Amino acid sequence: MIRLSDSRFPIADSRSYRLAVLASGRGSNLQALLDAAPDSGYVIAGVFSDRANAQALDRARTAGVPALALDPKAHATREDFDAALFDSIDAAAPDLVVCAGYLRILTHAAVARFEGRIINIHPSLLPKFPGLRTHARALADGETEHGASVHYVIPALDAGPIIAQARVPVLPGDTPATLSERVLAREHPLLVACVHWLAAGRLLQNGSAVLLDSRPLAAPLLLGADDQLHESAEAISP
Ligand code: GAR
Repeated sequence: MIRLSDSRFPIADSRSYRLAVLASGRGSNLQALLDAAPDSGYVIAGVFSDRANAQALDRARTAGVPALALDPKAHATREDFDAALFDSIDAAAPDLVVCAGYLRILTHAAVARFEGRIINIHPSLLPKFPGLRTHARALADGETEHGASVHYVIPALDAGPIIAQARVPVLPGDTPATLSERVLAREHPLLVACVHWLAAGRLLQNGSAVLLDSRPLAAPLLLGADDQLHESAEAISP
């Protein structure tokens, strides 16, 4: 793999597993990754946004991580914007690109540049509720369980191989806001646990399959109450 790098994204330790994180807004998932980095075997090499006022950029800068916003309106087409964005991402020499609350749909060309090395966190138990307004749609459908998924990104929206999920109950009286808060609290350990195992080289994408320690997963991993990933519901502590 050719690594482009420039002085904006210093490579302090070539042995570190490097993340580029994309975020459009609040950045609480980014914050979880920043907080866990010292114990989880990765460094965050750069944070990238499509919005100059994203709180995620402030979180990155506070942590001493290079942060860059590109304006989609300054580019003629989606393809041009993604090409510029992913040129900047390439310059950070990431091993993994993490979409953590990045709210633009990536072009096929951008996804192809990082095939097998780009993941997304999505606030639903995929394949249920791809796209937007997941919490309101889960409530409208009378779901009794909801949650979040981490999956490899493929060109089709929210449709890539699922690495792991965190489940939460839907409670009587829930609103989209209360449900979203319950899910978000589990997104943070879910994303950290997935990135930890990716950095350790335990997870790989193989076409539509996810390999754990070189074996295809029969079903997505599940986040337990211990904030660790497990291969079956039976292995999860109550
Ligand atoms: C998170 O709930 C994430 O799952 C969702 O946006 C939120 C970002 O929160 N992502 C998507 O909906 C992507 N389709 P954050 O900025 O606080 O991490």
